[in-house]
Amino acid sequence: MSDRDKQLREAAYQEVETHKSLVESDRFRLGYHLMPPVGLLNDPNGFIQYKGVYHLFYQWNPFKTEHGAKFWGHYTSRDLVNWEHHEIALAPSDWFDKNGCYSGSAIEHNGKMYLFYTGNVKDEHNNRESYQVLVESEDGFTFDKKGVVVELPEGYTAHFRDPKVWKRDDYFYMIVGAQSEDLTGKAALLRSSDLYKWEHLGAIAGAHVGSLEDFGYMWECPDLFELDGEEVLILSPQGLEPEGMLYQNIYQAGYFIGKMDYENARFDHGEFVEMDRGFEFYAPQTTEDDQGRRLLFGWLGLPEEREEDHPTIEYKWIHAMTLPRELRVKDGKLYQLPVEELKKLRHAEVIYQNVVLNEEEQAFAGIDGERLEYELTFNENPSGEVTIQMRNHATITYSPEKERLTLSRISFVDGKTIEERHCEISELKNLRVFLDSSSIEIFVNDGAEVFTARIYPDENEKNITFKTGQPTSVQLQAWMLY
Ligand code: FRU
Repeated sequence: MSDRDKQLREAAYQEVETHKSLVESDRFRLGYHLMPPVGLLNDPNGFIQYKGVYHLFYQWNPFKTEHGAKFWGHYTSRDLVNWEHHEIALAPSDWFDKNGCYSGSAIEHNGKMYLFYTGNVKDEHNNRESYQVLVESEDGFTFDKKGVVVELPEGYTAHFRDPKVWKRDDYFYMIVGAQSEDLTGKAALLRSSDLYKWEHLGAIAGAHVGSLEDFGYMWECPDLFELDGEEVLILSPQGLEPEGMLYQNIYQAGYFIGKMDYENARFDHGEFVEMDRGFEFYAPQTTEDDQGRRLLFGWLGLPEEREEDHPTIEYKWIHAMTLPRELRVKDGKLYQLPVEELKKLRHAEVIYQNVVLNEEEQAFAGIDGERLEYELTFNENPSGEVTIQMRNHATITYSPEKERLTLSRISFVDGKTIEERHCEISELKNLRVFLDSSSIEIFVNDGAEVFTARIYPDENEKNITFKTGQPTSVQLQAWMLY
């Protein structure tokens, strides 16, 4: 390890020590989500199950609650529920990553773990350079940077990053988020037979590749995989304009389902679908585990948008990861559900069978607090509006007439403006909701839609109430999570 590397690591650990008690005193620290020990966390990186252990790395700026020269922080778990935080995996200590070890992925090959990430470099005139860097690890805990394996191919600007690598038949493939010289977003594909020498095959998707018109000026964090007989390309495009209920956040995360033609380096696909309908969700990454499950973590945050207004920054930390989710494809649509293992967190179960909700707000013993899960199942189609109030801060509303589900919350910018996000739901069958001290994740109709958001309620506001415009028979179940 170079002196520069040691210095950077020392400085980061020092930062953790210095602010530990302040960070931990924040009542908005989450109970069962992954967070940075100090500073800013963004994208999930290098998600892999390696020698039976799940590794999740993350983009980390230990020095500020702002973006900057990122490190890779490191968590591991055997069950996706209990996590251990480890020493820093990567520090931005080299000429090829001096302005950040940006996002990337992990792959296992011949018993070793290989990481690929983007080395972000800015010169004195703020011109950007980007390099794809290879790292080897014998054990998953100590890392050896092997240096640059991919220089910028022709036809792209230096916005070329976030390599995701997988193996297929005799080759390794790398998909990279890119901007082509005409300033449109692209997903670039590269191929290698040894993980060291890479050949650029072309842009497999993006504006004017196939039938897609302009679709944003940059695509970040692409991920391509097969699931349930379909091929899915996940990406985080930047530069889409709001369109009705769609694309309401500064940047989006979503997917295309299609068919990958490896011969011609082309991904023929259908429409882009947003993966999350809430306020904070970005840059998700998946991996396949030894049970054959396609697992996903997303960043429970968004870049640039109002980051300085999150109240946690007074406590020197910002952002978190979503819950780990399992993906499935059914009838051409991506479903997301919290992984089965999260049931381990369930305590103090309450069940209310065949309760009739009506226009009076009703609360239920055992369904309140800061850290809980509840499941609402409709025994019949609701014919009137459904309203669930959570901690006087977030509200779920379903209108059968408009066939629309809405999440509204009180803005954390001014503490009063009501903000809304919507999604079309023709028939509401069930809702599964995870509340943590300052987050909410709502899984609608067995994971057909998801809403993810941060919420910052007052301490004494712990109540949850349910009402429906017309009497409606439901089943309610809840658990405290810890
Ligand atoms: C997405 C992103 C990536 C980049 C990383 C830097 O949030 O901008 O494209 O690699 O964050 O932290």
